[in-house]
Amino acid sequence: MTRRKLVAGNWKMHGLRAQLGEIEAIAAAASRNTGVDVALCVPFTLIERAVAVAGELPIGAEDVHAEKSGAHTGCVSAEMVRETGATLTIVGHSERRADQHETSHDAWAKAAAAHEAGLRVILCVGETEAERDAGRAERVVQAQIEKSVPEGAAASWFTLAYEPRWAIGTGRTPTPDEIESMHSIARAKLSRMVGEEAAGIGILYGGSVTGKNAESILSLEDVDGALVGGASLTAEKFVPIIEAAA
Ligand code: G3H
Repeated sequence: MTRRKLVAGNWKMHGLRAQLGEIEAIAAAASRNTGVDVALCVPFTLIERAVAVAGELPIGAEDVHAEKSGAHTGCVSAEMVRETGATLTIVGHSERRADQHETSHDAWAKAAAAHEAGLRVILCVGETEAERDAGRAERVVQAQIEKSVPEGAAASWFTLAYEPRWAIGTGRTPTPDEIESMHSIARAKLSRMVGEEAAGIGILYGGSVTGKNAESILSLEDVDGALVGGASLTAEKFVPIIEAAA
C-alpha cells in the first residue's frame, strides 16, 4: 500500500505572534512541495492565528483532554481544539508522559476523543535510554502501542510516531538499523491490532531530525515521515526537512 510521507512540526512551548511569519513561510514551502504532506502543531494560544495565516497547511494542537467538557482547570478538549480550525493533534508525547505523568491509557482516551471530535491523531510512543540499555526497547514500544492505539485506528485519521525519548532534543539519533527495526516491529504490532489497515498507517520517526540527517532517515524502509521539534521552529531549518521528504 502506498503511504504518503508526512512531515509534522511540534513547536512545544514555543511560539508568540511574532513567529507567525515563520508559519507563513513554512506554509508557502509546503504548497511548493506537493510530494509530501506537511502539518504544524503549535501551542493552544497560537492555533487560531496560525490557522488564519497557514492557508492549506494543516495546523494542530499538541495535546487534548480526553473529556468533552468538565471541571478540569487549564485543560482544553478536542472539541474546543477543532473549533479553532485545527485539524489534528498530537497525543501521548513523551514530554507529557514525563512532565504530566500521562499513561498509555490516557493517550488512548485522548486519541479516541480527538478522533471523535474530527481531528487527525499523531500518537507518540518511544522508550527511555535506560529501557533501551536494558534491552527492553521493543517490549516497551509494543506495550505502549497495545495500550494506547484506539480500536479501529485507521490510516484516514491515525498516525503513529516513534520517538525514542533519549533522542529528543539531544542531537543523538538511533542508527538506521535501529530505526528500521523499531518501525517494522511497530507495524507488525499494529497489524495484529487492526489487521490489513496497518499497511496504510503512517509511522513517523521523531528525535533530533534536522536538515542534515532528514534524507537518510526519511529514506528508510517503513519510515513514513518525521515529527520534528526544534528544527520546525523556523522555516530556515524546517523547509530542508520538508524538501528531503518530497
Ligand atoms: O515532537 C517532536 C519530538 O519530540 C522531537 O523533538 O526534534 O527537538 O528532537 P526534537
